[in-house]
Amino acid sequence: MSPRNEFGEVPGAFPDSFGDVVDGASVLVCCGSGGVGKTTTAAVIGLEAARRGRRVVVVTIDPARRLADALGLVDGLTGEPQQVRAGVENAAVTGELWAMMLDTPAMFERVVRAHAPDPEQADRIVENRFYRNIAGALSGTQEYMASEALHELHGDERFDLVVVDTPPSRNALDFLDAPGVLARFLDHKLFKLMMMPTRTGLRMLTVATQPILKAIGRVVGSDVLADAVAFFQAFAGMDVGFRQRAEAVTALLRAETTRFILVASPQRDAITEASWFADQLAQQGFAVHGTVVNRLHPRFGDGSVADAVERAASASRRGHDDLAAVWSNLADLRTIAIAERAELAPLLDRVAGSAVVEVPMLPSDVHDVMALDLLARHLFG
Ligand SMILES: Nc1ncnc2c1ncn2[C@@H]1O[C@H](COP(=O)(O)OP(=O)(O)O)[C@@H](O)[C@H]1O
Ligand SMILES: [Mg+2]
Repeated sequence: MSPRNEFGEVPGAFPDSFGDVVDGASVLVCCGSGGVGKTTTAAVIGLEAARRGRRVVVVTIDPARRLADALGLVDGLTGEPQQVRAGVENAAVTGELWAMMLDTPAMFERVVRAHAPDPEQADRIVENRFYRNIAGALSGTQEYMASEALHELHGDERFDLVVVDTPPSRNALDFLDAPGVLARFLDHKLFKLMMMPTRTGLRMLTVATQPILKAIGRVVGSDVLADAVAFFQAFAGMDVGFRQRAEAVTALLRAETTRFILVASPQRDAITEASWFADQLAQQGFAVHGTVVNRLHPRFGDGSVADAVERAASASRRGHDDLAAVWSNLADLRTIAIAERAELAPLLDRVAGSAVVEVPMLPSDVHDVMALDLLARHLFG
């Protein structure tokens, strides 16, 4: 363990600043457990990067309206990037801020329409009963569409920075593996079987004559299976493109300019979760580049707890009870600030190579540019 002072700092340690991490990135992924401030952080980064001249799009996979709320957008967000003016309308700002919310079914349809050889084939896929009833709800679809969205936004010339806000769940990081899962699926025997070219009218025959499909049909029902087979067959000729994009996203996630921001708050549960996320990232071979410790109690000056206690006693001796109460309150707050930092120390050791920034707990929720500005000053100095 590195030596830390009572506020959890390692004297003399200067990793890249948080601003450097953002400036050098073309993709930023914000992760961490629910409620710690990922969406807020994504909004602050988006705003500040735009002010620094970047053309930023913030994409939220979180179905909640939190990103729209954090940016103060009353009308909410859609599945298409929309430009945000609040906070970046200043003439001196050359960058742009855009935001969107991942709309999984709409994204799926867009991908299909963009890559189908002809409109009829696209229709066959998006109107397929299996897709409408089942595939859209399958776990993994959202994660996969998130990776397609990342690919699309990264390739979109309007943007030079994509900030990804992940959902508030433990499987939020599944999308990092989604392209790989798809590639493995495309290689799977079952998929190859279902994709086998069939002559018209022979489809049901194929299902009935392939033992494995027959077995599946017994479990899920032969209608469902026939719809599923039709669904996968409708992708004929498109699997190569899917595989290429999956490989491109895998490479993009591994690129030097793709950076991961871990967001944590000082509560014990949130710290445990943040360490878990750091472990997951490490296991998949990703580094944590920036760590945001959000909602910390501020330290209120450089003084110590003992100093505040001493001043409270002295004020009390002189009969200044109000002043004594204020000093005593300060002593309590400093005690909390120190306890939070002690709690955080193992996590901060865990992510020692990353740019760590502390963000204080604001008196109220973050849903306007003023609050985002305040947070930006803490993140970027
Ligand atoms: N530093 C802060 N001070 C006060 N409130 C905050 C701060 N950061 C976030 N919040 C509030 O906490 C709530 C959760 O934040 P959010 O960014 O939505 O978390 P997540 O995306 O990780 O679930 C929101 O209501 C937000 O306004
Ligand atoms: Mg969120």
